[in-house]
Amino acid sequence: MSDIEFHNREKEIKEILDILDSRPTLITFIYGPINSGKTELINHIMLELPEEYIVFYINLRTKFLASYDEFIESLFEMEMETEATKRKKKETLAELISSVTKVAGIPITREFLDYVFKDKNPKNAFSYIIKLFEEVKNAGKQPVLILDEMQKIGDVKVNGSLIYELFNFFIDLTKEKHLAYVFVATSDSLFIENVYTKAMLHGRCRYLLVDDFDKNTTLDFFDRYGFDSREKELAWNCCGGKPVYIVELARVGDAEGMAAKMLKIRTSQIGELLNSLEAYGAEIEFRGGLHEVVYDKVMEELSKLKENADCEYGYITPEISYLVRNNIIFVDPLTMVMKPQSKLDLLAIRDVIKNA
Ligand SMILES: Nc1ncnc2c1ncn2[C@@H]1O[C@H](COP(=O)(O)OP(=O)(O)OP(=O)(O)O)[C@@H](O)[C@H]1O
Ligand SMILES: [Mg+2]
Repeated sequence: MSDIEFHNREKEIKEILDILDSRPTLITFIYGPINSGKTELINHIMLELPEEYIVFYINLRTKFLASYDEFIESLFEMEMETEATKRKKKETLAELISSVTKVAGIPITREFLDYVFKDKNPKNAFSYIIKLFEEVKNAGKQPVLILDEMQKIGDVKVNGSLIYELFNFFIDLTKEKHLAYVFVATSDSLFIENVYTKAMLHGRCRYLLVDDFDKNTTLDFFDRYGFDSREKELAWNCCGGKPVYIVELARVGDAEGMAAKMLKIRTSQIGELLNSLEAYGAEIEFRGGLHEVVYDKVMEELSKLKENADCEYGYITPEISYLVRNNIIFVDPLTMVMKPQSKLDLLAIRDVIKNA
């Protein structure tokens, strides 16, 4: 069983298509626990969109972003100089746009690149992108800008915070100019929590949660791959609706053996992390400074999950931050609810803390 088809996401797809159906006004933040299928959903929609949309998709996951120059390089895709393009050099933006396929990075030629890198000023890059998007509009198309794994930009500084400049640029593209649709995806819930509390973004963005599948959707998935009812229940009870896990179960076929193996691994990972915290302590960057992570407080947070799969968190503490950074807990700032990153994490947490 090697080919796994894209599954469901009807509600989320409809929400995104509705956004694309009216003129751009807000930035859309796509967020959710790790491995919940955000990137997969974006890729799926990009390929299904009508020809009139030109999607500029940038995934920062694999990019090294320590400086402004690296940020700029990550945004743009240089025109490859082939014999054909050398003969017919693209001089104008209109010519550049005419060669852009439906889904691409942001195209740029060497001449424009010089301008964009000049003075290390993000405004140059942004004004180039605005000109490019205006050209897309002139060609009768709709520009869509998608930035995946946006939190990677968090620490880059250019005369202040790059992220601040970038958000202002996105507001300009959407609310001010109505020029392009802007989607920002991230699985870092602390980043979203930070964004959510930023005054400059109030009323200028919307949030779209891409969570693990619910029970019915997950059981439908297993139906497609021939699981019987016992296997389905077993798989759901262990892995919940985490796409990456259920795809693995469907691929392997042996749901029982695989689920038990996954749980064992996760339990030992979380156990080791907590042992190390207890033995050696830890410090974490928190609200601009280094903070000690208190083992007892971490255990206190985790023990809230003994009875319930989720709970309200009130406010973020260094201990919650530590659990989020270690991909054990997901926090949703819109509902102020914290929960394990997956059902597997919930079972592993309960196992680890049962004797504590
Ligand atoms: N709708 C879906 N149908 C089928 N498989 C899916 C679906 N969504 C996700 N998957 C599977 O789960 C894997 C993880 O999904 P994806 O990488 O999109 O998650 P993500 O939320 O972007 O993760 P990250 O938190 O690392 O950014 C995919 O590689 C794919 O195999
Ligand atoms: Mg992703």
